[in-house]
Amino acid sequence: MKIAIASDHAGFEMKEVLKAVIIDEFGHTCIDYGPQNTQSVDYPDYAMKVALEVSNKNVDRGVLICGTGIGMSIVANKFPSVRAALCNDLYSAKMSRLHNDANILALGGRVIGKDLAKEILKVWLSTDFEGGRHIMRLNKIKPIEER
Ligand code: RB5
Repeated sequence: MKIAIASDHAGFEMKEVLKAVIIDEFGHTCIDYGPQNTQSVDYPDYAMKVALEVSNKNVDRGVLICGTGIGMSIVANKFPSVRAALCNDLYSAKMSRLHNDANILALGGRVIGKDLAKEILKVWLSTDFEGGRHIMRLNKIKPIEER
């Protein structure tokens, strides 16, 4: 899979840890949209980069990390076809794939530790969409986006 990742200053360290998981443990391609250090930046600028790539289907999935994960998910969900899920626990991460076919994972770098974030990412990357009754529910999102 091709995965885009970005953070703000509050998520920078977690981004570096998760990049290693994506590349070394899963063998996926990981495109880092920054930032490259912990200097203060604005999360919308970075959420936008990854959300655009996911929305345009240039990548398969995205990962966004800010302090809470809230700002990243708010911005990402403005983009057509983006289903960003803020998951700071394992159950939500699994369900966001099974039922929502989430294509962006948002995480709170100040909410959870790096070890839990790694586990959440692993579950999220390795769980497939369940399909079935959830397909028609996802199909009801497009007309809402187009309103
Ligand atoms: C930055 O201080 C913080 O506001 C940001 O990382 C994020 O939590 C916003 O949702």
